[in-house]
Amino acid sequence: MNAKQAAGYKAAEWVRDGMTVGLGTGSTAYYAIEKIGEMVGKGLKIRAIATSNASEELAVKYGIPLVASSEVTRLDIAIDGADEVDPQMALIKGGGGALLREKLVAINSDRFIVIADSGKMVSQLGGFKLPIEIVPFCYEWTLGRLQERYKVEIEMRQRDGQLYVTDNGNYIADASFGKIVSPGELSHELKMTTGVVDHGLFVDIADTVIVGYDDGRTEVI
Ligand code: 5RP
Repeated sequence: MNAKQAAGYKAAEWVRDGMTVGLGTGSTAYYAIEKIGEMVGKGLKIRAIATSNASEELAVKYGIPLVASSEVTRLDIAIDGADEVDPQMALIKGGGGALLREKLVAINSDRFIVIADSGKMVSQLGGFKLPIEIVPFCYEWTLGRLQERYKVEIEMRQRDGQLYVTDNGNYIADASFGKIVSPGELSHELKMTTGVVDHGLFVDIADTVIVGYDDGRTEVI
C-alpha cells in the first residue's frame, strides 16, 4: 500500500450508512472513491456528489449513487486531496484544476477530511503554484492585474498547447508565490479581484487531515 492509498482508504472509515458524501478529485481521492465503492458493493447505503467530471465517472464506475445538488442542502462529509497542507490545516488545492467545485463541496460539508501523502505537509504554503480560476472574457487583463499586484510569476495553465479549461468553462492561472505569509489575507484579496472566480487557497475549511506514509501508516490530525 502506498501513502496516497493509505490516506484514501483510512478516510473511507468515516463514511457511514445514510450519509451524503462529497467525493474529491485527484490521485489520492481516487483511492477514497475506490474504497467507498467497495463498501457500497458490500451494502453501504450512501449518496454522493463529485467535485469533477473525472470523479463523477469514477463514482459511476464504482457503483456509488450520485445525487443532484438540488436534492441536497448539506453534505455530511467530503473527502479530498491537497497539494500543500500547512500546520494550521490551510491548504493549496487545484493542481488537478477542480478547485472551484472542491471548495463549494468542502464548505458545504459538516466535516471536510483532507487526505495527503506526507510530502504534501509543509511549514508554509506557497512552494506549490497557487491555481487561480479566472473567467475567459478579457482573461489577459485579469492576468495582467494579478501580475501587477503581486509581482510574481503567474502563467496561464496549458494542456496540449491550448489554454486549460476547467469543468466550469474557465481558465486557470498558476501563481508562483514562493512563500505565502498570510494565506487568509491573500485568499480574501484574490477573491475580491474582478475576473477571478476562485482560487486554490482553502483557509479554515479543513476539519481533519489524514497523512499517509510510504510504509502504509496513517496519522490523523
Ligand atoms: C485537484 C486537487 C487535488 O486534490 C490535488 O491536486 C491533489 O492531487 P493528488 O491527490 O493527485 O496529489 O486539488 O484539483
